[in-house]
Amino acid sequence: RRVAAVIVAAGRGERAGQAEGPKQYRRIGGRAILAHTLETFLAHPQVGQVVVVIHGDDQELLRKAIGDNLERVAIVTGGPTRQDSVRLGLLELAAQAPDRVLIHDAVRPFCDADLIDRVIDVIGANQGALPALPVADTLKREGRDGTIGETVPRAGLHAAQTPQGFPFRPILEAHERAHQAGRSDFTDDAAIAEWARIPVKIVAGSPDNVKLTWARDIAMADQRIHGERS
Ligand code: C5P
Repeated sequence: RRVAAVIVAAGRGERAGQAEGPKQYRRIGGRAILAHTLETFLAHPQVGQVVVVIHGDDQELLRKAIGDNLERVAIVTGGPTRQDSVRLGLLELAAQAPDRVLIHDAVRPFCDADLIDRVIDVIGANQGALPALPVADTLKREGRDGTIGETVPRAGLHAAQTPQGFPFRPILEAHERAHQAGRSDFTDDAAIAEWARIPVKIVAGSPDNVKLTWARDIAMADQRIHGERS
C-alpha cells in the first residue's frame, strides 16, 4: 500500500476548554476522538502506514485512547504549530517514501472512506487534493467599532477540510523549504503547496466532516453517535 497518512494530534485544544484536557482525547460515543479518527484510516484498504503526531506530554492519554504497539502505526512528537507537527510526521515517513500521503486533523473524526477515496483519486505526480465545501454563509469583514467594514463576495469561496492529499516527496520538500524560510504561519498543507507552486485540486468535502473545535462541538458529536446507534 503506497498511501500513507499523517494524523496530527499535538495541539492543546485550548478553545475547547483546557480543564478537561486536549480535545482529541475527549470521548465521543465512549471512545477518544483520536481513536475514531485513527480507525477510519487503518480500515481504509489503500492506506498503509499511519503516523500519529502527539504532544510530548500526552503519552499516557494516547495509551489510554488507542493502546500501544498498534501495527502500522508510528507515534511521533509534534511541534509548537500545526505546520511543525505535520513536517515532523512527514519526516517519519521519509525512509519509506510512500507515493502519496494524506494529512488529517485528529479532531475530524467523521471523515469517511468515500471522502478518503475522492481525495486519493485526484492526487497526481505534481497535484494535491483538498476536500472543501462551498461557503454557505454571507461573509462580513469587520470594520471599525464592531461594525461591518465590507461584505466579501462568497462566489468561488470554499471552506477547507482535511484529509488533504499530496504526492509524498513534493509536499515533504515544500514543508522543509517553508521551515527553512522561517515560515510558520501556514494553517493547512494546501497553503504550503500553494506557496511551493504545487497545484491543489478541490474535491467535494463532506458536511459531516466537521472539525471539533469548541466544547459544544464535542457534546454534539457525542449525541450524534448515540443517535446513530439507537
Ligand atoms: O489548532 P487547530 O484546531 O488548527 O488544530 C488542528 C489539528 O492540528 C488538531 O488535530 C491539532 O491537534 C493539531 N495540532 C498539532 N500540533 C500543533 C497544533 C495543532 O498537531 N502544534
